[in-house]
Amino acid sequence: MYQILERQNLAPNIYLFKIVAPKVANKAQAGQFVVVRVDERGERIPLTIADWDREEGSITIVFMVVGTTTYRLAQLKAGDSITNFIGPLGLPTHVEKFGTVVCVAGGVGVAPIVPIARALKRVGNKIISVLGARSKDLLFWEDELGRVSDQLIVTTDDGSYGRKGLVTEPLKELLEDKERIDRVVAIGPSIMMKFCAKTTEPFGVKTVVSLNPIMVDATGMCGCCRVSVNGVTRFVCVDGPDFDGHQVDWDLLLARQSIYLDEERLSFERWQHQQGTHF
Ligand SMILES: Cc1cc2nc3c(=O)[nH]c(=O)nc-3n(C[C@H](O)[C@H](O)[C@H](O)COP(=O)(O)OP(=O)(O)OC[C@H]3O[C@@H](n4cnc5c(N)ncnc54)[C@H](O)[C@@H]3O)c2cc1C
Ligand code: FES
Repeated sequence: MYQILERQNLAPNIYLFKIVAPKVANKAQAGQFVVVRVDERGERIPLTIADWDREEGSITIVFMVVGTTTYRLAQLKAGDSITNFIGPLGLPTHVEKFGTVVCVAGGVGVAPIVPIARALKRVGNKIISVLGARSKDLLFWEDELGRVSDQLIVTTDDGSYGRKGLVTEPLKELLEDKERIDRVVAIGPSIMMKFCAKTTEPFGVKTVVSLNPIMVDATGMCGCCRVSVNGVTRFVCVDGPDFDGHQVDWDLLLARQSIYLDEERLSFERWQHQQGTHF
């Protein structure tokens, strides 16, 4: 069992859990993920490692409540335990000195991008970060991202904080600017990553995205997380989650992500009914 050391509500429906998992913490690297199962009857869900503390033996995850399992997870309190916490899984993000790297985070994507930006900065890159959310109340970890960035631009879709608009607007301006941009890392909803990749493509700047298809076994055997990258089938759980955003077949990814919407809605309704709650 894996005990929850700390629980924070970072924004509406967004939670941070710090979990005791010394073996995972010992090996964790930026860009990797864990698979969590709340209890013996629960489904397995992948969540990115947002931070780790090797001395304390803990892993931090940040998740948004979107359906049954994330809802059940959010109901747990500090001191409660999770049945399975498997990881670190996936390949770590490729880190080397590229020069100037723009890190673009959308919504809950700020959590996985902070350790990546930190690792890239540590090896001497200049980090310009763009953090976007739908509105001010959904923004979190501005300070954490700011600490590992040389420059931070914040946007909200509704203009309630920072600059009004989408993250792709400052991204395009940075690419048009005199300063050379050597690499872009974009993490957030698939649609946001798709448009970040579309924005950088004409400039020929390599753009790394962290894909989040539906996963089942997360060991490369079931094929559920398959994506097409440069016309080749890849499994996100073992070949990723990072891929070149210019080579991803975004339409296939987006279509496959919504395959089980009816089942997911039914599962959630059944859970609410059993609990006598409404979300
Ligand atoms: C490598 C990876 C890292 C991820 N990291 C994070 C993270 O750090 N924080 C975070 O909030 N979310 C993250 N996700 C997404 C997270 O796994 C899903 O939100 C979660 O599985 C939803 O489960 P649910 O039962 O609450 O919702 P469901 O009702 O099952 O689904 C709701 C939505 O989540 C998507 N989804 C469902 N099952 C999965 C699955 N097994 N894998 C991926 N997506 C799924 C569906 O397309 C649907 O749109 C990550 C996904 C992947 C693949
Ligand atoms: S989740 Fe089964 S192959 Fe990746």
